[in-house]
Amino acid sequence: VSATTAEKPKKRYPGETKGFVEEMRFVAMKLHTRDQAKEGEKEPKGQPIAKWEPSIEGYLRFLVDSKLVYDTLETVVEKAAYPFCKDFLHGVGTGLKFCKWIWESKFDGALAADAEFRNTGLERSEKLAKDLEWFKEQGYAIPEPSSPGVTYAHFLEELSEKNPQAFICHFYNVYFAHTAGGRMIGKKVAEMILDKKELEFYKWDGDLSQLLQNVREKLNRVAGSWSREEKNHCLEETEKSFKYSGGILRLILS
Ligand code: HEM
Repeated sequence: VSATTAEKPKKRYPGETKGFVEEMRFVAMKLHTRDQAKEGEKEPKGQPIAKWEPSIEGYLRFLVDSKLVYDTLETVVEKAAYPFCKDFLHGVGTGLKFCKWIWESKFDGALAADAEFRNTGLERSEKLAKDLEWFKEQGYAIPEPSSPGVTYAHFLEELSEKNPQAFICHFYNVYFAHTAGGRMIGKKVAEMILDKKELEFYKWDGDLSQLLQNVREKLNRVAGSWSREEKNHCLEETEKSFKYSGGILRLILS
């Protein structure tokens, strides 16, 4: 009897053998609708992108809220990697827990630079600032951030304080989604309402596939020290990431 118990196969997670990023990707792809991506499993709902009728005002709301989300992510990782973050360990501030977590892993030595998610080359905040400046020069009024962006930004700040694994899930999904579906959407919208102008939001300095690969490796190394429970906890967060980002995407049609 004990032999059969011992031989019971260990539960396998899709993508597991290729590293944790592949696991996150697998969960994310299934949450797409079938018309969004080949690997999508959800029923299509709402208009397919081909039938979208975006407006510049709606698109600006989307860009402003996206910027707030990237500002938040980029501030959190900046503070987390900053050596002096230990100076505010006694205070309350954005990214404090995440900062502590990264800082403590630095003391472990092994994670050190690997645990830093700043300066990945995927940052979007400055690019979006340039785009908004361009719209302003064209005479458009830049709106204040609206509810979907403000809510997501608060949520991310909170996660960074108390839930690093969940934070990492959002970090992965926000940056990687933008390089895939996000880029497709940007191209489509530019064709429809911007006379094909390519915004900075959709440009990266350097070779994007290399930048993505570097971040994948970093994520895999950090998640390499997580327990199975922590990994599952991160994967379970994917749905929320879709919910919040989906709300911001819908602003394009508002
Ligand atoms: C990848 C479309 C929304 C997360 C992709 C891919 C497509 C796509 C075509 C590439 C699939 C491939 O590698 O063959 C779309 C469309 C969306 C959308 C049309 C909305 C209209 C989202 C949202 C999220 C998300 C809201 C999560 C916040 C991802 C991730 C990947 C991905 C993580 C994998 C990227 C990689 O492998 O590097 N999406 N997507 N997507 N999408 Fe989306």
